[in-house]
Amino acid sequence: MAEFPQRVRWMQDFFGEYQRYFNFVKKVVRHEFRKSGFTRISTPVVETKELIVRSAGIGSDVVSKEMYELTDKKGRELVLKPESTPGVLRAYIENNLQEEPQPVYWYYMEPHFRYDRPQKGRYRQFHQMGGEIIGEVDPILDANMIYVGCSILDGLGLKGKYTVKLNTLGIPKEREKYILELQSFFEARRHLLDEVDQARLSTNPLRLLDSKNEDVKELLKVAPKMTDFLKKESSEFYAKVKEYLDILGVAYVEDHTLVRGLDYYSHTVWEWVDGSGRTQDSFGGGGRYDGLAKVLGHKEEIPAVGFAFGAERLIEAVMDTGVTLRNKDGIHLCFIQLGDEAKKIMLPLSIEARNRWLNSLLSLGTPSLKIQMKKANRLKARFVAIVGIMEAKKGVCQLKDMLHGTQVEVKIQDLLDRVIAEIDPNELDFYVPAKDWVIVEPIVEAEGEFAN
Ligand code: HAM
Repeated sequence: MAEFPQRVRWMQDFFGEYQRYFNFVKKVVRHEFRKSGFTRISTPVVETKELIVRSAGIGSDVVSKEMYELTDKKGRELVLKPESTPGVLRAYIENNLQEEPQPVYWYYMEPHFRYDRPQKGRYRQFHQMGGEIIGEVDPILDANMIYVGCSILDGLGLKGKYTVKLNTLGIPKEREKYILELQSFFEARRHLLDEVDQARLSTNPLRLLDSKNEDVKELLKVAPKMTDFLKKESSEFYAKVKEYLDILGVAYVEDHTLVRGLDYYSHTVWEWVDGSGRTQDSFGGGGRYDGLAKVLGHKEEIPAVGFAFGAERLIEAVMDTGVTLRNKDGIHLCFIQLGDEAKKIMLPLSIEARNRWLNSLLSLGTPSLKIQMKKANRLKARFVAIVGIMEAKKGVCQLKDMLHGTQVEVKIQDLLDRVIAEIDPNELDFYVPAKDWVIVEPIVEAEGEFAN
């Protein structure tokens, strides 16, 4: 027989506890972005290869090694998106968002794909929670972005467990000069570099700044620094970002070796680094990318700044803190029945339970009491209501409190009140879909003296 198909390697199924933590992360992210004036955008999972290649750059790991590429039936070259920034900027231009009040504040929570080397915290399908502010240039926006990211981490209970690393990459002209200097510095010391770094020296010398090689790390202490190549305007921009961060009370560590792995950045770049010593140490990162629109072929520059967190890394960090989350999926009441009369009593009762915000489950079929109780146990139901033939006749049920191991007989009509009195209201989901509808009152035509 053919082998049962497995999930794609290093892509995960999210369910149960992990899904609950994912929901919590999503909730906190949405809350923090909303409070700061962001609205949500979703872009397609697939983008053109050209968009992705031109954005991240030929020399980036994302493009050179990690793209999930596909060709559609018409031969178009497509890519499962490795990040959302290019797609979001494309959406801004394609949908004429320049016509709207500037800047545009967008956030996203999306699956992404990178054919990355598998490790803890590194997956081939992963999720990013990110935000982009597009259409205005001001260092205050960079500082604000970093602040929003920090409030997300703090909201997740990770305060004190991360460091903000900050750097500037100046503008392309300044960076070109710097790269030449850096290249000649390392050319003179080529023999000290390993194979990977020698290749980087030719293709993307900036990447030497995040080399893992100890010799290179030592050399970097005396190598030329980007900040020495900044002209007045760029220095002032960077100084302003830092000044605003101070006002916002955001602590940061300047790191002149921070370059990020994507080509499109200019001026400010930053990363939130996990202090726990995991292998994959970056919760997220971002920066300004004023030049990207032009690189993509737009007629003019569109200033923009943004960041993204890796959701899995946030989830795992929250789990590591030992925080347990309230389980809104927990079963409050499990109805156990023995016989048809009992079923007829319980069916309307289970509907009423739902209408009163309880998560309930009606055990069906005709298994024995023992099997039904076992199931309620496995589901960690808080209460179990049992109606057998005798109970059905008397209009009562046996109410088992599974937490305290007690059992009482209660009248059917009192059952739900008894249960609700014991449940923490924070566990109940009081959502009413119709409350989200805005009923627009029809406009009544004015009559008499106000009519014109
Ligand atoms: P990035 O640094 O490539 O930036 O990715 C952001 C975050 O996504 C990383 O810090 C990490 O937490 C997570 N991440 C990346 N690859 C993986 C993976 N294979 N498995 C799990 N998590 C991963 C960007 O993507 C930019 N678009 C950020 C940005 C937005 N810059 C400006 N706006």
